[in-house]
Amino acid sequence: KEYEFEKSFKQMISTLPKRKSWGNREDFYQYQGFWLHPTFLKGVVSAQQRFQAQPTDTILCSIPKTGSTWLKSLVFAILTRTSFDDSTTPLLSKFPHEFVPFIELSHADLPTYPDMGIPVLATHVPYSSLPTSIIDSGCKLVYICRNPKDSFVSLYHFNSTILTSQNAQPPGLDEAFELFCEGVSIYGPYWDHVLGYWKASLEHPNKILFLKYEEMKHDTISYVKKLADFIGYSFSSEEQQKEVPEKIVKMCSFENLSNLEVNKREEMYMGMIQHKMYFRKGKVGDWKNCLTSEMAQRLDQITHQKLSGSGLSL
Ligand code: A3P
Repeated sequence: KEYEFEKSFKQMISTLPKRKSWGNREDFYQYQGFWLHPTFLKGVVSAQQRFQAQPTDTILCSIPKTGSTWLKSLVFAILTRTSFDDSTTPLLSKFPHEFVPFIELSHADLPTYPDMGIPVLATHVPYSSLPTSIIDSGCKLVYICRNPKDSFVSLYHFNSTILTSQNAQPPGLDEAFELFCEGVSIYGPYWDHVLGYWKASLEHPNKILFLKYEEMKHDTISYVKKLADFIGYSFSSEEQQKEVPEKIVKMCSFENLSNLEVNKREEMYMGMIQHKMYFRKGKVGDWKNCLTSEMAQRLDQITHQKLSGSGLSL
């Protein structure tokens, strides 16, 4: 069966449009309108064929570099708050991505929840390419997005750091910028990814919670409460009195997580990315330190154009 899958996957991928992928060895493939790395693409196709979501699942969705590490930590802390406190939470000793299986990678044997059995999964798959069982099961989705200028800058640094650590040559800022604007970036076009989930969240507001990194940074406590309500784990008034939401916010803050030994390690996640690479600055507006005003204007213009009429602003 596995052999059959490999064979048909190889055949299918050979028909897809390809582009060079920001200095990575393997090209991006355009699948159902989005640019994917072949390893993840295989996982997506496999998940589309085999993944069986449960109605009680919560799926954390995002395009890379928009705050998925933070979201995973917050949801984990919310769901496990009665089992642990600030001094015992596994967040202190484990890398946040390890709490939540990544659909594209665990495709073959999905999914035994690796930690504490929390029914949470994560994916970068665009809404229109999600396995149908996710929609049919009625499970809940949380999508996090971020201003495209900060997302691009975060992605640019992330990619450069990974490639440099592999002694490979990353693209320069201008080249990466052009590709991003063209839509050729991991799981891109960026705007189409965001819009897919945005439109779906308008259609199914009780099934899809649409979050923005900037708003969450601004008022994390309110959003933690909103998240808890959405996934069916509301804070009781007693918990609120004891400032449990505040403690979760503090535990999952960039300052706290990025200073934990486990998150400073060079240990690899997914065999190629060091834990510490997921924690860079964690700020809103860092694009100002990287983009020229022309670049910023150009991205703003694309964003304006792409999102016009959608009711979404980024
Ligand atoms: P910067 O590169 O702008 O610093 P993802 O987790 O989706 O890969 O996104 C990574 C971005 O989120 C990085 O942005 C990273 O620093 C930031 N980040 C990581 N942990 C965070 C946290 N606890 N709070 C806020 N931002 C965080």
